[in-house]
Amino acid sequence: MSKRVAILTSGGDAPGMNACIRAAIIACQRAKHTLIGYRHGYHGLINQEFITLSPDSTHNLIQQGGTVLRSARCEEFKTVEGSQRAADNLRDADIDTLVVIGGDGSFKGACHLSRYWDGQIIGIPGTIDNDVSGTDATIGYYTAIDTAMSSIDKVRDTADAFERIFLVEVMGRHAGFLALNAALTSAANYVIVPEFFKSEEHDIALIIKQINGQRALKGTVSFIIVVAENVWPNGLPGLTEALKKHGIDDVRPVTLGHVQRGGSPVSQDRLLATTLGGFAISLVGTKHTNIMVGEVNQRPVIVPLEQTWQGAKPLTDARVETMETLMNKRYS
Ligand code: F6P
Repeated sequence: MSKRVAILTSGGDAPGMNACIRAAIIACQRAKHTLIGYRHGYHGLINQEFITLSPDSTHNLIQQGGTVLRSARCEEFKTVEGSQRAADNLRDADIDTLVVIGGDGSFKGACHLSRYWDGQIIGIPGTIDNDVSGTDATIGYYTAIDTAMSSIDKVRDTADAFERIFLVEVMGRHAGFLALNAALTSAANYVIVPEFFKSEEHDIALIIKQINGQRALKGTVSFIIVVAENVWPNGLPGLTEALKKHGIDDVRPVTLGHVQRGGSPVSQDRLLATTLGGFAISLVGTKHTNIMVGEVNQRPVIVPLEQTWQGAKPLTDARVETMETLMNKRYS
């Protein structure tokens, strides 16, 4: 039966969100559902700001970074009044199903909304951080790895020319997926991720041992340390200072920042976004609600929304082993 479906993008934008919107538009057209797009995430829901998404709007969408629906982090939505207003607006617009593309914060918001609105809610994981449980990857994660990797490749050129130590900070919020994979793919010399960080004293000792070990073997050569954000006390300035205390002072910090969120999605993100967009729409009108659609071993899965943020999602074992073999040697 034909339904009225609404879709929005929320939280940090991620490459592939547009590819996902495109898939949802096409799948809705085929299933004869009407699709509207709320703009500016949950802000748009609170302010009843929506547009109709017709098949005409899919042209050239798959390759565009960012999100054509715009995004936002919405504090007001966390309040009872904010969510009630959003629920009233969904009822006024006669919406049967709301599809939310975002990360765990957006999914918590969706659960909050379900207290005031009894329509169907389906989440699709979209964040460069890959910190959503229940899915192997999130939309945008692979592109962000590529972006960080190619930036670090460039850093290496100048690091080699001066035989310098570079610290490169990558995003990830409180998860090390992006840092670990960017470091492995760019052959960085060391990586600092929240999952393995113990203390400043402990970790600086490991880094110094590794730098000295490399210098004993090869003389003064470049050394690149990839640092996940929000891990080292006081960030890159803190780590620069800690290295200085150990006599290492020709250090250059580079923060990659929001560059990592931009750009055209790589093929893996387009595939994931297209699969999940289509799969989400195939569930419209079924009993499944307050769920996220994800992919595990290349198969679509349905996960209760509440499980998506429970417990920290562990880093992939095989990647951790590679890290220990090739970069961060264990000293204790
Ligand atoms: O969640 C995506 C992300 O890019 C994180 O990696 C980062 O910590 C955060 O968003 C930055 O948020 P904002 O763009 O609001 O500064």
